[in-house]
Amino acid sequence: MKLKKPVKRILIIILIIIVAFIMYKYYKSNNNPNNVTQEKINETLKFVKDNNIYDEKYKDEYEKITYQDNDNFKDILVTFLPKGYKGEEINYILKLSNANINKLKDKDYIDISNYYTYKNFNVDNIDRYNKYYEEHNDYSYDLVITYVNIKLDLPVYTDPAIVSDGNDLLVLVNKYNCLEKTYRPNDLDYASGIYGNVPMRKMAKDALVKLQEAVKNEINIELLPTTAYRDYSFQSTLYNNYVKEDGVAAADTYSARPGCSEHQTGLAIDLKNPIRTNVRLSESDYAWLKENAYRFGFIIRFPGNKEFVTGYQEENWHIRYVGMDAAKIIHDDDLTLEEYIDLYVNEY
Ligand code: DAL
Ligand code: ZN
Repeated sequence: MKLKKPVKRILIIILIIIVAFIMYKYYKSNNNPNNVTQEKINETLKFVKDNNIYDEKYKDEYEKITYQDNDNFKDILVTFLPKGYKGEEINYILKLSNANINKLKDKDYIDISNYYTYKNFNVDNIDRYNKYYEEHNDYSYDLVITYVNIKLDLPVYTDPAIVSDGNDLLVLVNKYNCLEKTYRPNDLDYASGIYGNVPMRKMAKDALVKLQEAVKNEINIELLPTTAYRDYSFQSTLYNNYVKEDGVAAADTYSARPGCSEHQTGLAIDLKNPIRTNVRLSESDYAWLKENAYRFGFIIRFPGNKEFVTGYQEENWHIRYVGMDAAKIIHDDDLTLEEYIDLYVNEY
C-alpha cells in the first residue's frame, strides 16, 4: 500500500512523539533519586498525621525525613523539631546510638553534621571537637573525634581516670588513665630474663615464649626481657631518679609517673638482645619485632610515628600483650592502643 507523502510524514511525527514519550518516562523512573524517599516522605507525613503530632510549622521538614519503623521515631520528631533541627538533620539523629540520642536531648540545638557518621562520635565531646578542629584544621573529622576522645586536647596527668579493671586484657594505662596504687595482677608468672627471673602475667609469659622461639628460628637472635611487671613503688623509684637526673619535663617524655605505667599491669615487657649493650634494639631486630610481634598477641606500644598519641618517645624495645585479635588490627591499621580502644572497644 502506498501512502500519500503528507500522511506518511504525520505518521512518522506521531511515531517519534510516542518513542520520545516512552524514553522520557523510562529515563525519569530510572533517574529519580527520590523514588524510594518519595514513598518514605509520604510515610512520615502519614505517620505524623496518624499520630496526631502534625504541626504545620514543620510541613517542609516532614517531607525530608525518612520514615523509620522504630519505637523512637515519634519521640525523636517531637523532641528535635522544636529544638530547630531541620529534616535532614533529623535523618542524622535517627542514625545515632540511643546513648548519643539521649545526650542530644538534654542540649539545645547543635550542628552535628561534621561528626554524626563516625561510630566513635560522642555527643558529650562536641564542643571539644569543634575547638580542636579549629586549632588543627589540617586534621580530618575522624581524626579530630578520635584524638579528642582519647583526650589529646587535655593536659596530661591533671585529672587521670582510675582504671576500673586492671585485669582486663585491653586495660589502657597512660597519662590520662592510671591504676590504683595497690593494683597488682594475681596471676604473675616468671620468664627468664637478662638479669634473672622477670615477673609478668601468665598469658604474656606464654606468648613471649612463642615469640622467642620464632625470633630464634627466623632471624637467629635472642630477645630476653629486662623488666616487665613493676609495682607502684618500683616505678616511683625509677621515675624519681629520672626526674633528679633530667627534670620533670624530660622525664615525662620517657618514663611514666607511678600508677600510670603499663608495666604495673604485668602485660608490658621490655626486651633486649643480650649481645648488645644498648637499650634500643638494632634496626634489623626491631624490623622483625615490628612486623611479627602481632602474631603472638603483642604490639609495639610506643612507636616512633605516634609519639604525639602515646605521649612517649619511641621505645622500640617495649611490647605490650593485648591478645591476637587486637594485636592484628593494631598492626594492620597502624594504630596505637589508645586509638584501637576508641575505635573498636568503646561504645558511644
Ligand atoms: N617507659 C614507659 C613509658 C614506662 O615508664 O612505663
Ligand atoms: Zn617498658
